[in-house]
Amino acid sequence: MPAIVLVGAQWGDEGKGKATDLLSSRIDYVVKFNGGNNAGHTVVVGSEKYALHLLPSGILTEGVIPVIANGVVIDLSVLFEEIDGLQARGLDVSRLRVSANAHVITSYHRTLDKVTERFLGKRQIGTTGRGIGPTYADKISRVGIRIQDLFDENILRQKIEASLEQKNQVLTKIYNRRAVSVDEVVSELLSYVERLAPMVGDTALELNQALDAGKTVLFEGGQATMLDVDHGTYPFVTSSNPTSGGAATGSGVAPTRFERVIGVIKAYTTRVGAGPFPTELFDEWGEFLTEKGFEFGTTTGRKRRTGWYDAPISRYATRVNGITDFVLTKLDVLTGIESIPVCVAYEVDGKRIDEVPINQTDFHHAKPIYENFPGWTEDLTGVRKFEDLPKNAQDYVLALESMSNSRISAIGVGPGRDAIVVRHDLVG
Ligand code: GDP
Ligand code: IMO
Ligand code: MG
Repeated sequence: MPAIVLVGAQWGDEGKGKATDLLSSRIDYVVKFNGGNNAGHTVVVGSEKYALHLLPSGILTEGVIPVIANGVVIDLSVLFEEIDGLQARGLDVSRLRVSANAHVITSYHRTLDKVTERFLGKRQIGTTGRGIGPTYADKISRVGIRIQDLFDENILRQKIEASLEQKNQVLTKIYNRRAVSVDEVVSELLSYVERLAPMVGDTALELNQALDAGKTVLFEGGQATMLDVDHGTYPFVTSSNPTSGGAATGSGVAPTRFERVIGVIKAYTTRVGAGPFPTELFDEWGEFLTEKGFEFGTTTGRKRRTGWYDAPISRYATRVNGITDFVLTKLDVLTGIESIPVCVAYEVDGKRIDEVPINQTDFHHAKPIYENFPGWTEDLTGVRKFEDLPKNAQDYVLALESMSNSRISAIGVGPGRDAIVVRHDLVG
């Protein structure tokens, strides 16, 4: 099973970090292929809690080679902060590889992210403010700065000059901000070069060679399907492709090599930032899920919006990613709810719709049609076998499985590394 992709199936924070960590003991490489430090993965190992943003979660397992591939946008100050933080806790980060083609988030990208959001006012996306959108916009507009540009001061200066010529006009004349100095940006970026140099290489070549040699490579997506710039709830999305296709373009490993796609999905739904969310709860059950699931963002600390499980979204995720296996997380959070609603379809303008509507306005107006499933009161955190789950919890999982068009191969029953019920092997 050489190349495996792992993606979020909802709006992020499904527990991808924990799922990656679970597989790490059986993989050789873990690759981040999209996004940047907008991601936030919390992984609990024994009494230690790690919050990862830019580094792939597999870094917590000794021997795994972490790779930041070409599809990622890198804030170098965050990269070194994260490396230093992990090293201070005794982790070996020395094998990290960074693609020469990855794009660099600079101070002006962060500034533009914040000012454009402010100008959007009521229509704002609720971005993480990390400069993700403006950096990808520059990449697509062909005025981005790549990691390889840092190794030639002349080229770097020329590219930053070209990029700032227009941006400084916008910053000063539209947003009423100070112009950014080319020298300051150049000298900040050059200050990282010495430390960065040994990590940088042709990661597409290295990953293909690793696969040729029979190594196992896990591609860990940041964000999630419904935040995908093509397949998500545009414009309330991130600026990359977190779906499985992004693993190919974002790494230089061809789609023909991927043999398995794991979708990580919560037993209910959450979302951070603005945008449609049909099953969102505004009552005490919403509060229940927030409190019991501890639904506060790993990156920005924002309270996550919460709602019931949305089966059309799970089918949509299966379809656009080609999901072969789901990891269903946070089943333990539902303990104590007498009757658990699951959205099985939507009602739009009086009509029943079984799939996610293509029209964004319809999705904004979609009212969930619920089916209720009997709950359970037993604590699940100690359960390790499917048969040992309360009957109603088993039935809930089996119902979600039949609605999602893909099998549920593992079930999270707590935040800890070992709090998982495995039904089907995810790697073999
Ligand atoms: P990611 O961005 O997809 O990696 O997810 P986050 O780390 O942002 O959010 C998931 C949160 O849920 C983290 O705090 C995890 O420790 C926690 N978590 C993951 N799986 C489970 C589970 O099965 N049960 C519980 N209670 N918590 C979980
Ligand atoms: P992980 O990997 C949840 C959301 C932001 C905002 C939108 C655009 O932890 O699942 P951006 O800064 O990317 O331009 O913001 O996307 N968002 C996430 N929501 N989990 C994430 O990552 C997210 N990364 C971005 O809240 O709505
Ligand atoms: Mg997260």
